[in-house]
Amino acid sequence: MRMIDLIDKKQHNQALTEDEIKWMITNYTSEAIPDYQMSAMAMAIYFNGMNNEERSALTMAIVESGEQIDLSSIEGVKVDKHSTGGVGDTTTLILAPLVASVGVPFAKMSGRGLGHTGGTIDKLEAIPGFNVEVSQERFVELVNKNKVAVVGQSGNLTPADKKLYALRDVTGTVESIPLIASSIMSKKIAAGADAIVLDVKIGAGAFMKNVEQAKELAETMVNIGEAVGRNTMAVISDMSQPLGNAIGNGLEVKEAIDTLKGNGPADLTELCLVLGSQMAYLGGVGSSLEEARAKLEENLHNGKALAVFKTFVEAQGGDATVADDPEGVLPKAKYSQDVLAKESGKVSEIVADQIGIAAMMLGAGRETKESDIDLAAGIYMHKKIGDAVEKDEALVTVYSNKEIKEEVITKILNNIKVAESAEIPTLIHEIIQ
Ligand code: URA
Ligand code: CA
Repeated sequence: MRMIDLIDKKQHNQALTEDEIKWMITNYTSEAIPDYQMSAMAMAIYFNGMNNEERSALTMAIVESGEQIDLSSIEGVKVDKHSTGGVGDTTTLILAPLVASVGVPFAKMSGRGLGHTGGTIDKLEAIPGFNVEVSQERFVELVNKNKVAVVGQSGNLTPADKKLYALRDVTGTVESIPLIASSIMSKKIAAGADAIVLDVKIGAGAFMKNVEQAKELAETMVNIGEAVGRNTMAVISDMSQPLGNAIGNGLEVKEAIDTLKGNGPADLTELCLVLGSQMAYLGGVGSSLEEARAKLEENLHNGKALAVFKTFVEAQGGDATVADDPEGVLPKAKYSQDVLAKESGKVSEIVADQIGIAAMMLGAGRETKESDIDLAAGIYMHKKIGDAVEKDEALVTVYSNKEIKEEVITKILNNIKVAESAEIPTLIHEIIQ
């Protein structure tokens, strides 16, 4: 086989065979195929797309390019969740104990945050003592014992994706649905998931800017999942404004605890129940999504989800008293400041990505992979879209361990609009089964 012939084929809008795709990914991973040929291929795929068979073959070729995590010694259906990335998205911290509380194992390998989207691992590290570096054996042991563990990524998973994603980033080929879908699905499959729930975000804080695009991506991923034997469901959810009220690692831990006590923000609670019911249903709980949801709602209010959270934190070395006294246990910021509304009215817009960048500037996120993170830094939003606000009332409070710069305050004020009326964004746009 020659790469030039495969490029030619895709350039002329012909489908590649499974063997051709496997050959290409294997040789690209081993560096027998150079970046310049792969970038021509990525561009041909960008313009001509891939059919269902090609997408599944590409996904599995990427899975097989590296190690795969074997979770077969964990009892039950291992359901993983993936979000395409958002601002203030605290769902994993809540779903982990919530889903485990109905008996579905939650065995997650998670990442650190980069740019304005936060990572679950960073958030968990805001809890003093919490250890995310856990061996494979211990990981399996913890999930069998408590039904839940969340650990940092280890092992050489999907090396083809790492190379290909970096290449796409510099060749204008990131925004290709078959390439995004195979990239995301390959990582979930290599991490050992039997079933997958996807949260595809739309809006300013997201990759996909409209419902049609997001729906196409979600359907593509669901088709890939089903074709390779992993039950997959997807939700298309709003990311025009940040999720919940808190953005920032420690602040989001407190928000997760409030939600597990049944006192969380409405949008965050609802999204957790929607995603959680899909996870629970795929994990064999209830005979419908509604039944699965009823069980989760019960455990948010009877203290069971919170009890599992404490067990989970303690098992990974963290200070579980954080559940009773989040403010006393979580890191505190040296500086804080209220950002006041300039006029009265209704909050009509909170531009998610820009508010996320403001939180990053306060220290809550990394500008580069090497940056240090300030676990106490972030933004607490007192108002969400649709809320009434008086002139000089606090829109948000900002927290940081470094002196708060005027440019951050200006950025926040420029990205929270107050008007006479406001339209509340739809939270759940579509559920794809
Ligand atoms: N996220 C991924 O993991 N891969 C992509 O290609 C795009 C977003
Ligand atoms: Ca949040």
